Parts: sequence; C-alpha cells; structure tokens
Amino acid sequence: MGTEGVPFSRPMIVPEAVEATQRVLTSGWITTGPECAAFEYEFAAWVGAEHAVAVSSCTVAIELALRALHLPYGAKVLVPTITFCGAVSAVVHAGLTPVLVDADPTTGMVSPATCAAAARACRGVDAMVVLHFAGFPAPVEELADAAGLAMSRVVEDAAHALGTWVDSQQVGSISRAACFSFYATKNLPIGEGGMVTTNDAELAGWIRRARLHGMSADAWRRYAPGGSWQYTVTEAGLKANLSDVSAAIGRAQLRYLDLWQHRRSEIADRYSAALVDVPGLELPPTPVRGRHAWHLYVVRVKPGFGSDRDALVERLAERGIGTSVHFIPVHHMPYFRSVAHIPRRGLPGADRVFGELLSLPMHQGLRDDEVDAVCAALMDARIQTNQLEVVQ
Ligand SMILES: Cc1ncc(COP(=O)(O)O)c(C=O)c1O
Repeated sequence: MGTEGVPFSRPMIVPEAVEATQRVLTSGWITTGPECAAFEYEFAAWVGAEHAVAVSSCTVAIELALRALHLPYGAKVLVPTITFCGAVSAVVHAGLTPVLVDADPTTGMVSPATCAAAARACRGVDAMVVLHFAGFPAPVEELADAAGLAMSRVVEDAAHALGTWVDSQQVGSISRAACFSFYATKNLPIGEGGMVTTNDAELAGWIRRARLHGMSADAWRRYAPGGSWQYTVTEAGLKANLSDVSAAIGRAQLRYLDLWQHRRSEIADRYSAALVDVPGLELPPTPVRGRHAWHLYVVRVKPGFGSDRDALVERLAERGIGTSVHFIPVHHMPYFRSVAHIPRRGLPGADRVFGELLSLPMHQGLRDDEVDAVCAALMDARIQTNQLEVVQ
C-alpha cells in the first residue's frame, strides 16, 4: 500500500473523456444538445431500455418519475428507510408523502413482508420507490405485489444499479421508470448527472419536457437549421437538464463500463475470499439469480467481531483506509421524522442493522494490493481489539 492509503472511492475519468470535453467546449454548443441525444441513445442501448432521458441528478430523476404519475398532492409512496436522504427528499419535492419501509434484519434490505407491513400500516399506498441497495437486485415485482401495487406505480432508484440484473431482466426497463446517477463515486462517474430510462414513449416525452421548464421544444431544436423559435408550456417543469459537456464525458466513460463492471465483480470476489472466515464479519449477499452491480461492498460488523462498527471505522482511518456507512436510516433525521409516515412501533429492523453497516473501499480503479491492504487492516483491527480485551 502506498503512503496515501486506500481511499473509499477515486473517480476514474478516461483520457477520451478529457478529449471529448475539449471538443464540446470548443464546438459552439455546450448545453443540452447533440451530445445529450447521443448519450441517451447509447445509454438506453446499454441498459436495454427503449428510451433514456438525461437529467442533472438521480434525485431529480426520481422526482420527475414520481411527478409523471400525476398522483394527488400528499399521495403515499413507499421508500426504504435505509436509503440516501435525497431519494426521500425527491418524494417530498414531488408533493407526495414518504412512507418509510423497515429493513429485514437478516438482509438489511426491504422485503415483501416489510413492504406489505408498511402499506398496511397506512391503509394502502399509491406508489413505491424500489432501491437496488449497493447494486444487489431487488425483486421489484414481488415487492410491488406485496405492497398491492401495479408495476406502472413503481419507480426504481437505480443509483447503485447500473449493471444490475433481476433474474433475466436488466435494471432499466423492469418498472415504469429506472433512475440512475452519474455522481462522482457511481459506477459511471461524470461528476454530477442522472438518467431516467423507460419503455414508455409517452413518459419519456413528458420527462423530456419537464426537465426543461415544461417547454415543448428545447433550445437545440429551436436553433437548429429548420427549427422554429416557437414553443409552449402546458405544465410546470423543473430546470434539470444535463449539459452536453457532461454528456460527452458520459459517452466516453460508457465505452469502459463493461470492463469496469467486470473489475468490480473481481474486487468483490477478492474481498469475499479473504474475509469469508473472519469471525463476526458478515459478507454482503450475492444474488442466487440475476447479477450484482457491486456499486458498494457492504459488510456487517457483528458483536462477535470484537469491536463495534464506529471503533472499526476509526481504526481503519488511522491506517489511511477510507470507509463509509450506507446509510443512516432517514427516520433518524429530524426533517424526515416530521414529514414521513413512520409506524408507531418504529422501524426496529433498520435500527438494528444500521449499527453494523460498513462500506469498504470499492471503485473500478482499486488494485489487488489495495484490497489486500484493506483486508489485512480489518484483521489487524480485530486482533488488536481482542488483545486489548485480554489485557484488561
Ligand atoms: C440510493 C441513492 N439514491 C439516490 C441518490 C442520488 O443521486 P444523485 O446524487 O445523482 O442525485 C444516491 C446518491 O448517492 C443514492 O445513493
């Protein structure tokens, strides 16, 4: 391991992306235009969806996909409590009420039983956001069924799921809309950006207008030869388009995605082989069917490990190893407690799981010697803790 340690994540930007940026910056068109259109086309092909609409983030992608359901103000939407806060804010910004779903303490994720319980507790729900946590394939149809919802009322939070397959279906066109993120740490890093994919042409058209003030024609189409200056607005939209500069980075990065996904699964295998017998460390589940995108490698630090999760984070940090926690349950945050539906008996599964979650470094540029250094540091931390216990 070098003196710089092992960072939790390290954004990888390929030389072609740097060249593409320069090309677009000097092309005379830098906002949403031909690069975005090409990126959408190529991304849709990669995930096997008919349509893709580029937006400025996954958070806004979820908001737009929910707005497109045209539900009445305050309608109820299931969303896991162990998720990123932005996914729940998106529900609120869409004018809807988040109904928090507990985690199954064995998997750390929502299950048909916890979804059914959450839906029952508020006498039925109108829609749901399904998260493929860490890139693990969530059984979208089973979860929707358990919540009493048709697939047309399901939006997938695919921020972790670029490259995830649920059985024989790739995430991208399973539900009404799948929402992806190009945030700096994601499997396809641009820095910022998002994408909605769908097989519904009408929905794609609605999101395309709604991402840019609800205008019927964007600037590229208005200023292109033969274009018209005219446009109209029939509904409120957002300012949530992606620039051509970002799209050009995305296109160049996309050409490496197969390679990167392969590397991520090699890294996961290397971690699992080294850590499988460490007492008190529970490894992430691997899918029996389908495919994991390995956006995150999340272990659970159980009592048998000898040190709790927080102490372990500090020990690893002392060795220069960056870790993270995905996620602080949103019902632990005052704002969400004030706006979300939370059952009176609380969300005990998530409370239990939260203290054990630890995300190890995971990114496509992680070297084998860095993975080995993380595993060695984990084992040292355990030995040190046990020695301390013997001395005391
Ligand atoms: C599960 C989940 N959903 C949504 C988001 C939001 O993504 P973005 O930063 O592109 O808005 C993230 C980002 O980290 C995430 O992890």
